Amino acid sequence: MLKIAHISDSHVNERFHPDHLPRLKTVLEHALYVQHADHIAFTGDITSNADERDLKACRELFKDLEILNAERLSLVIGNHDIFGGPHLADELLQFPGRCSNRDYVRHLNLFYDTFSETFAGSEGPGSSPFPYAKVLGNVAMIGLNSVARQSALRNPVGSNGEIADRELDELVMLLKDKEIKHCDHRIVMVHHHLFRRKDESKLHTPPETNVIVERIEQATLKLRGKRKFLKTMNAGNVGMVLHGHVHFTAEYSRKGIVCLNGGGAVYPVNPREELKYNLITIDKKTITQKVIVVNKEIVVKASELDRFGPEQSALTLVKAA
Ligand SMILES: [Fe+2]
Repeated sequence: MLKIAHISDSHVNERFHPDHLPRLKTVLEHALYVQHADHIAFTGDITSNADERDLKACRELFKDLEILNAERLSLVIGNHDIFGGPHLADELLQFPGRCSNRDYVRHLNLFYDTFSETFAGSEGPGSSPFPYAKVLGNVAMIGLNSVARQSALRNPVGSNGEIADRELDELVMLLKDKEIKHCDHRIVMVHHHLFRRKDESKLHTPPETNVIVERIEQATLKLRGKRKFLKTMNAGNVGMVLHGHVHFTAEYSRKGIVCLNGGGAVYPVNPREELKYNLITIDKKTITQKVIVVNKEIVVKASELDRFGPEQSALTLVKAA
C-alpha cells in the first residue's frame, strides 16, 4: 500500500505571507505524522514571488522533515515560482512589464537546482527538467511544466497555462515507456487545472470579499491545449491528475480521469476555510482518495509521539487526544 498526500499553492513569502511557511510545515507534519503518508506530491506555486530566499526556506523545511529526496517528494513548478505575483494594489500596473522582463529559463533552473534531490533518477526524455517520471512501487508519477511563457496578449500576467507541443510529445514518449506502462497506476502532476470555467461554481463557493489583486488573477487563469492533453492522457491510461493553481480543494472528473485540486492546502481562497489536503491510498488494483482536514492540536501531539516512537498509530493518537 502507498499513501500519497497532495498539497499545492503554499505561496511562501517572508514579506507578504509570513504565516505561510509555518502553515505549510503544519500541513506537511499532519500528512507525515498523523496520516503517515509515504510520499508528498506538490503541484506548484510553492513560493509566491519566486524569491531565492523563499525557495531556500522551503528547501530547508523539506530537509528538516527528511523528505528532500525523490522517494518522499515530487514537485512541479507553478507560475508564481517563475513570474512571482503582484502583492500590493499599486504593483498591478507594473506587473505585466515585470513578467515580460522575467528570465523564464533562469527561474525554471533555479527551481530545479533548489530541489534537485527530488528529481534525481527521474529525468524525462528531453533536456528540460519537465516532464519527468518516477516509479513508486506500482505507481508511475509524471510531472509536467504547464507554465506558459509571458505574452502581451495571450498571457499578460504569466498566470495562464499551456502544455506545449514539445512537452506533449515527451509525455507520449514517457507513457509508452515499458516500465511506466507496466505500472498498475499512472498519476500526472501539473500546476494548472482541467475543469471548464462554467463548472467552477459547482466545485466551490467563492468568498464575497476577495482582494482585487486576487480577483484579477483568478480571471486570467486558463490552460491552453486541454483537449489534446486529455486525449494523450486517455491514450496512455492515466487514471488521475493532481493540480493546484486555484485555491480550493476539490475533486472532479474529465474524460474519465479523476482530477484532484490541492490548491486549498495552505492559502485557501476563502480565509475562513480550514487547511485541507488530498490523501490518495493505492493498493495493488485500487486507488481511493479523500480530503483530510488539518487539526493543529493533533499535529503537535503526533510530531512529539513520532520523536519517541514512529510506530505509534494515528488511531491511538486520536483516542488519546
Ligand atoms: Fe498558480
